[in-house]
Amino acid sequence: MSAKIIDGKAIAATIRGEIKAEVEAMKAQYNKVPGLAAVLVGERRDSQTYVRMKKRACAEVGITSFGYDLPGDTSQEDLLEVVRELNANPDVHGILVQLPLPDHIDEEEILGAISLEKDVDGFHPLNIGRLSMKRRDPLFVPCTPKGCIELLDRTGVEIEGKRAVVLGRSNIVGLPVAMLLLHRNATLTICHSRTKDLPSVVREADILVAAVGRPEMVRGDWVKPGVVVIDVGVNAVDDPTREKGYRLVGDVAFDEVKEVAAAITPVPGGVGPMTIAMLLRNTLDSAKRALGME
Ligand code: GUN
Repeated sequence: MSAKIIDGKAIAATIRGEIKAEVEAMKAQYNKVPGLAAVLVGERRDSQTYVRMKKRACAEVGITSFGYDLPGDTSQEDLLEVVRELNANPDVHGILVQLPLPDHIDEEEILGAISLEKDVDGFHPLNIGRLSMKRRDPLFVPCTPKGCIELLDRTGVEIEGKRAVVLGRSNIVGLPVAMLLLHRNATLTICHSRTKDLPSVVREADILVAAVGRPEMVRGDWVKPGVVVIDVGVNAVDDPTREKGYRLVGDVAFDEVKEVAAAITPVPGGVGPMTIAMLLRNTLDSAKRALGME
């Protein structure tokens, strides 16, 4: 049996179409469109690529994007000032500070300075705190974790009562996706580099979310037949046969695991496009809230 391939690219395109229609309706009714500010500090190539993709996606659905490309030696105070300006700008409904920030910047202070109502990345300590408690709705949920759940929902995978295993415990993906799965009544295990006998823990999963950043770590004999696999990993591995000299692989050995799983996301074309679609969705929701539309 070969698994159903969960086509994140197609699902994200459907969601962008839904968002575009809502943006058009907002424009017709209020003569306003949502605005997203993307703040990039320094010159990391991967971050530059992500921010460029986010801005391009905004343009595609009619969201205005404001780009702030700051030098790598920008001071804490100058960055805070940019955030404060954006907090005060009524045309900006979402503020995204691309992570990681340079080492000299206090990330927690910057994320905490973003207006709660504009925290479309969902990384403000209060939004994260609410996500980590029962019955405390955060205003925004982080985009990649939200995209993982949306993929499960739109594929018709039931979460309630299932054994969910999250491999990885990062602030950006592992921890928040674990909270979302728990809120949806999965029975949750979080495992990581210090977990003893990792394969046997992973093998318990009905739903596996892999987010450790280790190329093809999860092998075919690590998973239970019928598991649903969401692979968040994006790892570049050398590949001289490719023009660029590398290719992208996930945290899961796709070719092996797809022979055992019921469904699996590919890399690329799985979770990646969903992250951006959820950012657009959060920005639209923020603008709707600002206009009193909900
Ligand atoms: N770096 C890696 N993922 C993300 C994300 O979702 N948002 C931001 N701001 N930075 C990131």
